[in-house]
Amino acid sequence: SAAEKGGYDWFMRKEIYEQPQAVADTLLGRFDSDRRLTLDEIRISASELRTIDKVVIVACGTAYYAGLVAKYAIEHWTRIPCEVEIASEFRYRDPIVTSRTLVVTISQSGETADTLMAVRYAREQGAKVIAICNTNGSTIPRESDAVIYTHAGPEIGVASTKGFLTQVTACYLLGLFLAQERGTKFGDEVATVMAEMETMPAKIQEVLDGTDALLALARDLHQTESVLFLGRHAGYPVALEGALKLKEIAYLHAEGFPAGELKHGPIALVEEGIPVFVVVPPQGRDQLHDKVISNIQEVRARGAHTIVLAEEGDEEVRPYADRLISLPRASTLLQPLLATVPLQIFACEVATLLGHDVDQPRNLAKSVTVE
Ligand code: G6P
Repeated sequence: SAAEKGGYDWFMRKEIYEQPQAVADTLLGRFDSDRRLTLDEIRISASELRTIDKVVIVACGTAYYAGLVAKYAIEHWTRIPCEVEIASEFRYRDPIVTSRTLVVTISQSGETADTLMAVRYAREQGAKVIAICNTNGSTIPRESDAVIYTHAGPEIGVASTKGFLTQVTACYLLGLFLAQERGTKFGDEVATVMAEMETMPAKIQEVLDGTDALLALARDLHQTESVLFLGRHAGYPVALEGALKLKEIAYLHAEGFPAGELKHGPIALVEEGIPVFVVVPPQGRDQLHDKVISNIQEVRARGAHTIVLAEEGDEEVRPYADRLISLPRASTLLQPLLATVPLQIFACEVATLLGHDVDQPRNLAKSVTVE
């Protein structure tokens, strides 16, 4: 009913708007009185954590994309190699998993069969398994060595939204915790990142407060046949997630690519008028920002209609953006928590305009309990 949906037309839209609270709740109470990050749920000793020589993140769907985002942060902060793998691929290829491997599973429901089978397989190999999960007492956390719960609250819409943002948040907590316990990052550095994380709920709210342009964009573009999404670094999985949302609920052909990979194939898809979303990293020390601007020019020169997501005050992108979506400022690693949100809203709006059941898309289930 409308009451259950809090006055929104869809659970998905309600859940998109709950994201500031969901992220804040996931961050809550993670520091002890000495401002040390404490993940109470991780009952693996610091000495055991110091022996870990590889992190393998295993998940399906949107949770897999959360893992792809997390890889950038975990490797950067801990200097431990981190692989991310689709759960249904993982156990069938004789993966290298030992007692020094930390397997991290991500699952909103905690019941996804492919992910559960990966947990069982990893434990048989002697690996430690940490679950990142939104559902208390579900099977995956019960069968794991430790769990970090996301506190998104129940997610009803089949297409995951607040699940994703809170999964990224929880993975970042884990990455910082590993860095702290292993000494690759120290008190102040951990506290600095945590302080920035704590500003994210308000920034996500800012994104949500400025969605009128997105609704107009959806009206203009909902008849399109195909949409491309480009990103680099942590913006690349954001592009994948933006494309997945459109496929899931709007049944539109959509693809996400690493922007730098365009010229090696995908640019052949670019034709007059095709909408191309581009996630632009913050302006900063590295060359990433400028590289993405050249990528925008490449598609625009071939007729693409560019929808550019860039941080506010980024004047360099303006000449190449047919539409500009401004994001509050954030570091490169935290930007996915902002850049994903307009893509969720766009998909929700396009699906609504096309007359689809946004909460119950055809052929999909919220939780897939068969392999
Ligand atoms: C299903 C859902 C997706 C979800 C995936 C993983 O396919 O339709 O939205 O991302 O499962 O679900 P999980 O509960 O493991 O995060």
